Amino acid sequence: MSGAVLAVDQGTSGTKALVVCPERGVLGTGFAEVGPRPLPGGRVEADPEELYGSVLDAGRQALAEAGEPVTALGLANQGETVLAWDPRTGRPLTRALVWQDRRAEPICTELSPRADELRELTGLPLDPYFAAPKMAWIRRHLTRDGRITTSDSWLVHRLTGAHVTDAATASRTQLLDLDRTDWSPRALELYGLSGEPFPDVVDNAAPVGTTSAFGPELPLTGLAVDQQAALLAQRVTEPGTAKCTYGTGAFLLAHTGTTPTRGASGLAGCVAWRLGGRTDYCLDGQVYTAASAVRWLTGLGVVTGAADLDPVGATVPDAGGVTFVPALAGLAAPWWRGDLRGSLTGLGLDTTPGHLVRALCEGIAAQVAELADAAAADLGTPLTALRVDGGLTRSSLLMQTQADLLQLPVEVSALPDATALGAAALARLGADPSLAVADALPRTGPTTVYEPRVGTDEAHSRRARFRGAVDALLAGGRA
Ligand code: G3P
Repeated sequence: MSGAVLAVDQGTSGTKALVVCPERGVLGTGFAEVGPRPLPGGRVEADPEELYGSVLDAGRQALAEAGEPVTALGLANQGETVLAWDPRTGRPLTRALVWQDRRAEPICTELSPRADELRELTGLPLDPYFAAPKMAWIRRHLTRDGRITTSDSWLVHRLTGAHVTDAATASRTQLLDLDRTDWSPRALELYGLSGEPFPDVVDNAAPVGTTSAFGPELPLTGLAVDQQAALLAQRVTEPGTAKCTYGTGAFLLAHTGTTPTRGASGLAGCVAWRLGGRTDYCLDGQVYTAASAVRWLTGLGVVTGAADLDPVGATVPDAGGVTFVPALAGLAAPWWRGDLRGSLTGLGLDTTPGHLVRALCEGIAAQVAELADAAAADLGTPLTALRVDGGLTRSSLLMQTQADLLQLPVEVSALPDATALGAAALARLGADPSLAVADALPRTGPTTVYEPRVGTDEAHSRRARFRGAVDALLAGGRA
């Protein structure tokens, strides 16, 4: 099938939409900001109607700019964000608890004797980042009514009336049997969610329904969680390859093949995509706060925004002895200590905004380097390069720091919207079963490659300093 498709990437901080034509590339773009609200006690909520409105708004902008009809729709979602909603009216019954929300920590503590069993079943460590603990919390504290799902299922229901989720998004719940890619009765039982009207788990590329929300009736044929959509668009389709997306958080994913993997080094094992019944798997590690740490620094007045990182960082040659562990929403893989908070050490009277910026870049890059090492250990082979995408890849300072600390080339994608392009590829595959996966993917290579500019000794000593700061946090005990 040729013809343009509409791809919508409903992310944590905004919704991006693209009209993508296989021959002519991107014909139209749209964007609508959304505002997740950080609340006391590690809570982060979003307004579900705002998420839905942003999907319509961004999609319609992209279509208006393209000025031509599209043949299919693909939707990427922000992952482990959950809400309860009424299937009769389609209206939300609760706010959306965003993936960064930590309120379900006590549920994880209760389940900790079952952590190994859950990890074996689902591939995921026990942590409130994933969807199931937040679902159980909503059932216990907010409402027994309606359906409780990840945000994609609700959006899809509003758009098409279908009750589905895709295998990759479902693998982020801690309720999916990783081997069978269907709901695990045992995991549902452990979370007290047996008997819930859960959505059908569908392939990432398949017709699930139609919508007239954007104009003439349009089939929805592609669904994915955003990180996996970016993985696909970056052509990380062979075991041993990896990508990192620097968005609200930074997410490193390594393809592991068609056998399910339980990360022995602290990474999450999940579904990359299920296409035509074949499942590809990946390992996934997270830095919970990347662009949101930059936003935090912006709120303090240190920079005016992400575009300011490079000029402010260039005012000094190094971090001046300042070490920043930007765990502003806790530490994820490989430590899984969401209860911890960030640290900023080595401050002096001579510390300037430039030092703080460099320390932040170093902190994000050092965490990503830990994730890359964990992925390489699990794969049993070193990574040869890291493909990167997302808004923060525009910072040369961050990308150079990343290459230096990883001691690997960092290949910046020419695709600023890899996630939406992944959703577009899935939409095309779902609309045309005869299309080969490789033929549906964008063809562009990297725009810029950052090679390491420092030697291994310096990289080791900078990473050792960061690890020392993490160790100090870990030794500080649970909050
Ligand atoms: O796991 C959460 C992640 O998928 C969210 O991505 O791009 O919305 O920050 P993003």
